[in-house]
Amino acid sequence: MLRLDGKVALITGLGQTADDGWGIGAAIAMKLAQQGAIIFGGNRTLAAAERTKARIEAKGGVCNVQQTDVTDSASVKALVDACVARHGCIDILVNNVGKSEPGCPATMKEEIWDQQVDLNLKSVYLTSHFVLPIMEKQETGGAVINVSSIAGLRYIGKPQVAYSATKAAIVQFTKATAVIYADRRVRLNTVVPGLIYTPYTRALAKRYAPGGDEDAYMKMRDDQVPMKKMGDAWDVANATLFLAADESQYITGQELVIDGGITSSTGRV
Ligand SMILES: NC(=O)c1ccc[n+]([C@@H]2O[C@H](COP(=O)([O-])OP(=O)(O)OC[C@H]3O[C@@H](n4cnc5c(N)ncnc54)[C@H](OP(=O)(O)O)[C@@H]3O)[C@@H](O)[C@H]2O)c1
Repeated sequence: MLRLDGKVALITGLGQTADDGWGIGAAIAMKLAQQGAIIFGGNRTLAAAERTKARIEAKGGVCNVQQTDVTDSASVKALVDACVARHGCIDILVNNVGKSEPGCPATMKEEIWDQQVDLNLKSVYLTSHFVLPIMEKQETGGAVINVSSIAGLRYIGKPQVAYSATKAAIVQFTKATAVIYADRRVRLNTVVPGLIYTPYTRALAKRYAPGGDEDAYMKMRDDQVPMKKMGDAWDVANATLFLAADESQYITGQELVIDGGITSSTGRV
């Protein structure tokens, strides 16, 4: 079940900033590699990508990485070209890069708005622009998985309008493109993580924990979830694996929400 033997997976943002814990992109790369995929990854910081590569190779997997800025067209094209030059095809594309900045329209500086749109949304357009023409020429087509957030479905308790807007746009970008490509053997779906415990979450705690109490900040996140705990990167990686594998061959244009029940709940009344 869910084997990806010999399939080539291009993944953005697979870097791992620390030796402990797992970011979502790094866990997706490891999970797909464990199922037999050949990983090719782009990440802003090369050292972080090399850490993920070393972890995958230590488990017997195959992974190559290169420095990439997903907001830069030439850099994304270079990543795609390098993957095709090395492996001859791209079977799976995972658009994982994303980041939230706080702010409402009145407080957010225009440059932050533009950065958020470029990082979270234009990046998905850019990889799709270069990869979809390759996938549709392949006899076996391809599978694209874009990483959104429940902040793109609901207001999650703090103002981050650019993040919410761009993550919502990813869902509709994916749906519309999925229909366009539905008869070309290329499937596109979105994974929608809820509150996930990653190294980035720890960085958020350092930034936002009231009174610097990081444990209280983590407990507050756990308590918001009907399952009473945040998810982890593997929960998102498992959902991504399903959408990448042939077992989901009749699924396209959909969102798979991984949130422990948050978006099914109205919270406390
Ligand atoms: N964590 C959560 O609770 C949560 C919840 C919902 C959705 N998500 C989404 O899940 C995805 C991954 O989140 P995460 O928490 O795992 O984040 P993360 O640990 O910060 O990972 C993001 C990766 O993207 C890379 N990156 C940033 N800017 C880039 C650029 N311009 N070009 C190329 N690579 C770039 C980072 O590289 P560096 O090593 O250079 O920093 C990092 O390796 C994001 O789309 C996020 O919005 C996360």
